[in-house]
Amino acid sequence: MPLSPILDELGTYPFARLDEAKRRVAARGVRVLDFGMGDPGEPTAAFIREALADGIRETMGYPRAHGLPELRQAIAAWCERRFGVALDPEREVIPTLGAKEAIFSFAQVVLDPDRGKDLVVTTEPGYPVAERGARFAGAEVLQLPLLERNGFLPDLDAVDPALWRRAAVVWVNYPNNPTGATAPLALYERLVALAAEHDFLVASDEAYSELWFDEPPVSALQAPERTRLVVFNSLSKRSSMTGYRSGFVAGSPEVINALRVFRPSVGTAPQEFVQRASIAAWSDENHVREARERYGRKRAVLLDVLARKTCRVAGSRATMYLWVEVPGGEPSDAFAARLLEHGVVVAPGSYLGPSGEGYVRFALVPAEEECRLAARVLEEVL
Ligand SMILES: Cc1ncc(COP(=O)(O)O)c(C=O)c1O
Repeated sequence: MPLSPILDELGTYPFARLDEAKRRVAARGVRVLDFGMGDPGEPTAAFIREALADGIRETMGYPRAHGLPELRQAIAAWCERRFGVALDPEREVIPTLGAKEAIFSFAQVVLDPDRGKDLVVTTEPGYPVAERGARFAGAEVLQLPLLERNGFLPDLDAVDPALWRRAAVVWVNYPNNPTGATAPLALYERLVALAAEHDFLVASDEAYSELWFDEPPVSALQAPERTRLVVFNSLSKRSSMTGYRSGFVAGSPEVINALRVFRPSVGTAPQEFVQRASIAAWSDENHVREARERYGRKRAVLLDVLARKTCRVAGSRATMYLWVEVPGGEPSDAFAARLLEHGVVVAPGSYLGPSGEGYVRFALVPAEEECRLAARVLEEVL
C-alpha cells in the first residue's frame, strides 16, 4: 500500500504508552492524578462561550482563509497592548485554527530545495510538531539541544554556518515546553541577525506567552527587525480554549502574504463563530489574570512539596509545566513509572527528546484539589 514512510519512522507517539500504563493502574483501583499531557482542564470564561453562541447564524458560508477583519484587528490590538508592537492587521496578521496546524504546515510554505533551502532547525526536548511537519514536507531536520547549562537556550555558536545557509526556517519556542525556560530579547536579536546573514526565517512559537509568574516574557515581535520573523500564538493556553482551535501567525508581511496564498488550499480558517469568540478572548485580560492565578496556586502546592523533598526544579519560570530533575540519577522513564504506580502521572523527559533524559515534566493541568492529593502522594513516595 502506498503510504508515507515517514509514518513508520515516527513510530508510536510515546504518550500512547503512558495511556496504556494509566489504564492498568486505574484498573487496580488507584486514583490517577494526571500531570502527563498539557491539555488544561480549566473552564473557558462564560463571556467567551456566550460570544461563540451569539456568533451562530442561520446560514454560515465558508470562512475566508484570512479571517474576519475584526479578528485581525483584535489580535493586532492585543500585540500592541501586550508587547508595544504596532502591526498592520491587513498585512502582518493571519488567524489560524489553533497554533498546531499552522506550525505543522509551515515547512511546506518555506522550503525551497532547488535553492538549497532544504533544512528545518528545531530544538529538543520540545513540542514535536514543527519537526514532524518538516519531515512530512520532505525536509531534513536539525535539532538543537536545550541544555540546562545554557539556560535551556540553543547554542547558536555551535552550528556550522554551512547548515545555517541550508536552513529555510529556524524554530524556537519560549516560554518553552517542556523546560519552562524564558528567552531574553537578545536571543531573538541574534536570530534575526543570523537570519539576515544566511537568508532564513525565524519562527517563534509563543503559545505559552501568557502563562508567567514573575514578569511577562518578551516576544520575538519586539526584535528590531521583522522582515524574516513570524510568531505563532494561540488562545488554547491563554484563555483555556484548546477545544475551540484558535490562534494566529504575525510578523513578516511577505510570509503572511504567502500564508494568504497557501491556506485557502488547505481549508484551515477557524469557523466564524469561533472567530467571534476569539475577538472577545483577545480583548480581555481579566480572565487571563485569573487563569495565571489558578496556575500559580497549583504551582505553589507542587513547588512546596518538591522543595521539602529536595527535588530540584530546573527552568520552569513560565508555562504550565514544572521541569523536575530526576533524583539519584534514575532513568526518567523508570522514575515516571514509579510515580505512576502510586497514581501520579508525569511525562518522562526522554519522551520529549534525548536531551530531556534526567528530567520529568509535570503539566499543571489537574484541579487544585488534585494537586494537593498529588502532593500527599509525593510526600510519601519521594
Ligand atoms: C509549544 C507548543 N506550541 C503550540 C501548541 C499548540 O497549541 P494549539 O492548541 O494552539 O494548537 C502547543 C500545545 O500543547 C505547545 O505545547
